[in-house]
This record gives sequence, C-alpha cells and structure tokens, in this order.
Amino acid sequence: MSNDLEREKPKALITGFSSGIGFAYAQHLASQGWYLELVSQDPTRAQKAFETLAYPYSRYHLADLSNVEGIKKVTEKVNSPELIIANAGITKFGEVGGLKESERKDLFYLLCLGVIDLLEEYVPRMIKAGKGRIVIVSSIGAITPMPKSSIYASAKSAINSYGQSLAKELYSKNISVTVSLPGYVKTEAHAKAGLNHLRHKVPRWMWVSANQVVLETEKASLNKRSKVIPGFVYKLASPFLNMSLANKLWNKMTKRGKT
Ligand SMILES: NC(=O)c1ccc[n+]([C@@H]2O[C@H](COP(=O)([O-])OP(=O)(O)OC[C@H]3O[C@@H](n4cnc5c(N)ncnc54)[C@H](OP(=O)(O)O)[C@@H]3O)[C@@H](O)[C@H]2O)c1
Repeated sequence: MSNDLEREKPKALITGFSSGIGFAYAQHLASQGWYLELVSQDPTRAQKAFETLAYPYSRYHLADLSNVEGIKKVTEKVNSPELIIANAGITKFGEVGGLKESERKDLFYLLCLGVIDLLEEYVPRMIKAGKGRIVIVSSIGAITPMPKSSIYASAKSAINSYGQSLAKELYSKNISVTVSLPGYVKTEAHAKAGLNHLRHKVPRWMWVSANQVVLETEKASLNKRSKVIPGFVYKLASPFLNMSLANKLWNKMTKRGKT
C-alpha cells in the first residue's frame, strides 16, 4: 500500500486482526477513517480477512507474536502508531504439569511479555509526540481464578496490572491506556483450543459478541478509562467474582476439559 495513503490518516496498529475481536476492531476503525497496520500470523487467514475487510487504507504484516523476533518484525515495519490495539492471543487449556515448558513460555510471551515489549518500544515515541491511545485486550480471567487455564489467567492478570499502572503513569502525558476484560466472546478462540464444548456448556446469556466488546472498549478508551468489562452481565458479576459462592458457580458453568 502506498505511503501517500498512509500519510492521509491517523495510524492504528491492531494485533490479531484475522478474526474475532481484532477483526471487529479493524472494521470499526476502518469505519472511523483510520489507516490500519494489521498483524497476525497465519498467511491464509490473514489474506482472507484482509480481502473481507476490503479497506484500501490498510496493510497487513505476518508475525508470530509468541516470540521476541515476531515483535521486532512488527516494530521494524510499523512506524509510530497513534493507536495500538494489543489484542492477539489464544486461549489454552492446560492442567498444571500438562503444558511443555516451551508452550508455557510462548503463551505467556504472546499474552503478556510480548505486549509489554511492543508497548515499551512505542510508548516513548507517543510521549515525544505528546499523544496516543492504547487498548490492551486482557480477559475477565485476569480477575477471577481459571482452573486448568492457570497460565492463561496469570498472563492476562499480569498484563492487566501492567496496563493499569501505565494508565496512571501516562495520564498526564495525554496518552490513555484502557484494559478490556471480556468474559465469553463468540469468536473462533475456543474451537481453536479444542474447547468446543464450552459453546454448549456456558449459558447463552454469558456470551458477548465481538462487536459489543469493540464498541464498549472503544468508548471506554475515548473516555480515557483505564478498565472496561464489556457486557452487562459481566459488569454486574465482576464485584462478586472473587467471593467463594459466586466463584464456585462461575467455575461450574465454565468448567474446562478437552473435547
Ligand atoms: N473469545 C473469548 O471468549 C475471549 C475472552 C476474553 C479475552 N479474549 C482475548 O481476546 C483476544 C482475541 O481473541 P479472539 O477471541 O478474538 O480469538 P480469535 O478469533 O481466535 O482471534 C485471535 C487473533 O490473534 C491472532 N494470533 C493468535 N496467536 C498469534 C500469534 N502467535 N502471533 C500473531 N497473532 C496471533 C490470530 O491470528 P491467526 O489467525 O494468524 O492465528 C487472530 O487474528 C485474545 O487476546 C483473547 O485472549 C477472548
């Protein structure tokens, strides 16, 4: 895509654009007239999503963000975005002792350390520019225990903490940081993780659409809020999630096991 198109509009970087929340975010920001730098790892899915998006003010990059090289590839190719949507991720079933060391490390890097590496590269440039907006897609798993997904939950919890701290640190510098903590979102994530049974086990009223996550998250970000829990049900439930009775009920409804 030509540099002329790139210069005409404010630039947003979205990681994990090929499906789910990231794709819904790309559609939304396209409708708002942003220039989009899009990242995901699978060439076929990326090409298909890019064609479906059909938005000329965009280009995509392939990078595996579960390792340092993947993040470097992005920061070398994408120059100083004004808006970053750190969304790429997978959900992973894994009982304690069940994941190999490399699987644990890759998962933690993708969901947490890689997001930190990405932001540590770009935020100083935002500070210099005197403006910027950051959205981190964490999970409700950041604030409630997730048995059999402990690496996922701990990575989401750590990146939530990083984001909340950064939000306070950067507030006076005209840079907002918003961490989104979605519950169950209707995307491909669970099928990819072999957790298809959750589609039936988790009650219908607990599922939120990717579009709803995007609209609520974007509203919170524009209002410079440091945290958003998309979906009415989750907003209501979140203060109680760490109480033992509510937690027992939550774990029963969302019990994980491989199909
Ligand atoms: N769905 C939920 O219920 C839910 C709930 C809470 C939080 N979240 C979080 O929301 C975010 C988006 O997930 P989703 O539900 O929209 O899932 P999704 O539809 O599976 O989309 C995940 C996106 O992340 C990309 N991605 C995954 N691993 C990657 C890697 N190693 N390198 C680069 N890109 C990678 C995928 O690209 P490829 O197609 O190239 O693999 C895809 O574009 C994740 O961080 C997830 O943890 C989801």
